[in-house]
Amino acid sequence: MLKHFLALEDFSKDDIMGLLKEAVDLKQALRDRKAVSVLSGKVLGMLFEKPSTRTRISFEVGMLQLGGHAIYLKGDEVGLGDREPVQDVARVLSRYVDGVMFRAKSHADIEQFSEFSTVPVINGLSDYNHPCQVLADMLTILEHKGRLEGIKLCYMGDGNNVCQSLMAAAEILDLEMTVVCPEGYFPSIVRSSNVRLTPDPVEGIQGADVVYTDVWTSMGQEAERIKRLQDFASYSITESLFSIADSKAIFMHCLPAHRGEEVTNGVIESEQSVVFDQAENRLHAQKAVLVSLLG
Ligand code: CP
Ligand code: NVA
Repeated sequence: MLKHFLALEDFSKDDIMGLLKEAVDLKQALRDRKAVSVLSGKVLGMLFEKPSTRTRISFEVGMLQLGGHAIYLKGDEVGLGDREPVQDVARVLSRYVDGVMFRAKSHADIEQFSEFSTVPVINGLSDYNHPCQVLADMLTILEHKGRLEGIKLCYMGDGNNVCQSLMAAAEILDLEMTVVCPEGYFPSIVRSSNVRLTPDPVEGIQGADVVYTDVWTSMGQEAERIKRLQDFASYSITESLFSIADSKAIFMHCLPAHRGEEVTNGVIESEQSVVFDQAENRLHAQKAVLVSLLG
């Protein structure tokens, strides 16, 4: 396994399936109330340049459940690249903590940080990708569909950070992915041959086993919100659009969600929605990453 967890494409299918197996075991141990204190005495620094609910809490709880501790570091207090260069912060934190989780405005900063860090670095979201989210999503699909290979995953909306990690997972784990975006919002990098792009929501969602969406305006893009609301208006997952997917399709969203924008209240609250399983699985999947890198 690699030293850092920055992007799914850095890992093999065996690596990722190994992490998912570990996540399943850790989830079961928690259900059985069996203590797994393999990170006893270890400390995770958590550096956030953007807001968070799930990522912060799941990493903090995960470290506690593994016998360790987590420290929250607020980005504007640390002042990366402003108060202090990224490479200095990386070398200083490496002297105190056993690992760093970093939610960054810029992916280049995560890469630079990891070059200078002597302890493992975990990407907790950047402008480029969101690998922890998608690792948890793969666990969620496995639980609900029993497999990953050949699963028809339709991602509808903005070709953003979550989409980028979903495409990486589709390539490595052999899902069949369709990315449906308005013109001008397709993902910037498409490596995989098993990812199909289309601007047509009806054609793209047809027969999907999994329908996934995310906000139209990501953190840091707030100035574009009005234009994006107009550009994405026909890409909302409504009950009628969702009905074109497979009749047993599940609905996924990384959250936070904007009801009435990328998804209707009816779809996200439906029986087919698994969004809170996804949120829970952040905990179990990230514990597997923590055990692998810090254990
Ligand atoms: N899905 C996700 O990463 O949520 P937060 O931004 O709340 O951490
Ligand atoms: N694409 C969203 C994901 C939030 C978890 C954002 O970057 O804001």
